[in-house]
Amino acid sequence: MTPLIIVGCGGHGREVLTIARAAAVAGGLRWRLVGFVDDRPSEEDLKRVQRLEVPYLGGLGWLHDAPPDTHHVIAIGDPQVRRAVAMRIDAYDIPAASLVHPAATIGPDARYGPGFVAFAGARVTTNVTMGRHVHLNQNATVGHDCVLADFVSVNPLAAISGGCYLAEGALVGAAAAVLEDLRIGRDSTVGASACVVRDVPDGVVVKGVPAR
Ligand SMILES: CC(C)(COP(=O)(O)OP(=O)(O)OC[C@H]1O[C@@H](n2cnc3c(N)ncnc32)[C@H](O)[C@@H]1OP(=O)(O)O)[C@@H](O)C(=O)NCCC(=O)NCCS
Repeated sequence: MTPLIIVGCGGHGREVLTIARAAAVAGGLRWRLVGFVDDRPSEEDLKRVQRLEVPYLGGLGWLHDAPPDTHHVIAIGDPQVRRAVAMRIDAYDIPAASLVHPAATIGPDARYGPGFVAFAGARVTTNVTMGRHVHLNQNATVGHDCVLADFVSVNPLAAISGGCYLAEGALVGAAAAVLEDLRIGRDSTVGASACVVRDVPDGVVVKGVPAR
């Protein structure tokens, strides 16, 4: 089995751990969990990780001497922080694992890059392209013919309609809806429960119904 390191031992990281474990229960795991790395874990998170019986290994620098074939998954919810951490890890030349919860549904012609994480209940339909380190949280849905660029996050229960383009680093908040054929700009954030009815430019926050 391939050694797996989870980067980030906050709440998102511990949820990603449950995905890896659920995959093992479903018989699909080819990962052996080695532990968490995190540069600045809180005391509380260290205790929570200990309760899950997974070792905390140290800061990101631990990856420098990782055994051959070690993979990592960046379990950080914020797209911009995830991208910054990915750039640091690129220097270590350690491949990224992709984790799909057995209760997620990914269409047979959907494609995703390394570091992709699909939480329980995430649903992706047909002809969807997703880049590196894209995270689909619990019960998020992505309709036909969408493109989600690198480091996109779709939070719990958000619904991305068909034909949308989510540019790099975009985040769609919990329970938000994005109507069909729209573009969400680079590093833009859609607030929780918003309804997006027109294109969103780069680098902005929109919220409300309709989202502004
Ligand atoms: C929209 C969002 C990005 C704004 O964050 P922020 O810039 O820190 O905003 P603040 O919390 O300072 O709130 C600013 C104002 O917007 C309002 N607001 C915040 N989030 C809102 C939302 N989702 N919809 C409508 N109004 C919202 C606040 O009530 C506040 O209003 P006020 O100025 O009248 O008091 C954030 O609230 C959000 O929705 N993020 C997504 C969260 C999410 O998906 N969580 C799930 C994690 S798994």
